[in-house]
Amino acid sequence: MRRRSRLVSAGAVEAGPGRVAMAAGGGGGGRRWRRRMVAPLLLVVFQLAGAASAAALPVVINTWAFRKAAETAWRVLQLGGSELDAVERGCGQCEIDQCDGSVGYGGSPDESGETTLDAMIMDGNTMEVGAVADLRRVKNAIGVARKVIEYTKHTLLVGDSASLFAVRMGFPYEDLTTQKSLSVYSKWLNQSCQPNYWKNVVPDSSKSCGPYKRPEKVTCKEEQTISQRSVHNHDTIGMVVIGASGTVASGTSTNGAVHKIPGRVGDSPIAGAGSYADSTAGGAAATGDGDTMMRFLPSYQAVEYMRMGTDPTVACQKVISRIQKYVPKFFGAVICANTTGSYGMYFA
Ligand SMILES: *[C@@H]1O[C@H](CO)[C@@H](O)[C@H](O)[C@H]1NC(C)=O
Ligand SMILES: *[C@@H]1O[C@H](CO)[C@@H](O)[C@H](O)[C@H]1NC(C)=O
Repeated sequence: MRRRSRLVSAGAVEAGPGRVAMAAGGGGGGRRWRRRMVAPLLLVVFQLAGAASAAALPVVINTWAFRKAAETAWRVLQLGGSELDAVERGCGQCEIDQCDGSVGYGGSPDESGETTLDAMIMDGNTMEVGAVADLRRVKNAIGVARKVIEYTKHTLLVGDSASLFAVRMGFPYEDLTTQKSLSVYSKWLNQSCQPNYWKNVVPDSSKSCGPYKRPEKVTCKEEQTISQRSVHNHDTIGMVVIGASGTVASGTSTNGAVHKIPGRVGDSPIAGAGSYADSTAGGAAATGDGDTMMRFLPSYQAVEYMRMGTDPTVACQKVISRIQKYVPKFFGAVICANTTGSYGMYFA
């Protein structure tokens, strides 16, 4: 079975049968992002070679240039694995490789220096979801998320209790801290804990470290840290796999936002926000400013647009512009694929 793989970003596609082609460039509305990023590679696609059009099944797409993740998912399908297996192993590859430092262990230390993980996996045939959030001391977050589907009637487990569940399921309990995450943390402490995610507290969070308290008198100030967020501390892997028969599965894995307030959970493990899969319509996944994105359920909405026959690229674009109406400075990307194997992406 020959494959065709592509690294794509909106507006630019290069493909070569059996070879990896790379394309860099911007999508619509991406001026601000392009200024911040060098050659954004926002989507990897694996599809069968020989198909006349871009639409062919099976198809594997994931956010960013995490090519090894897509390759791993593709190989799982080739070996007869299910779409869920492909998503689990594909995102799991990124957890092992610590993709961009923002997936897996040793990245994005929170305010206390600890790395915590969020992940989800969704079965588009049964609409079952397994997810973990604020998972501590266990590396294979999406593996644990899969076990939530297989061994519980729940959808989402969080925090230390999720870790206990993971250990019961046979996952090793390990330290997620590395030299790198320690040095990111100590550098942040040394620069007066800047940037951070607090607002309207005393002492002034834009100048000093905590512990912070509510002020006696509330004086609301402009949010200051939001502009310091960059796309590079939100590089979640989100993946959509559509099998040969049109079965859809999706998943995400991330270590969240660097210097987050402990307890913070982003969009990634939330069904409909981080990703969504429905074998009667399609699949989508999101990456970016999760605190904003999760308020709009962009993955769910994109799948609903595709259900109505909207082209995948247009579906992605519509959900991004919906968010922009409220948060003009937001940044994020959505990837979309429909059940006949067409795919697209959009970012702001
Ligand atoms: C902390 O920052 C100061 C400058 O602000 C620098 O001289 C010092 O080396 C830093 N220490 C560490 C441990 O990074
Ligand atoms: C998927 O998208 C393509 C391109 O817009 C479209 O031609 C095709 O009909 C869509 N498939 C489904 C099942 O809606």
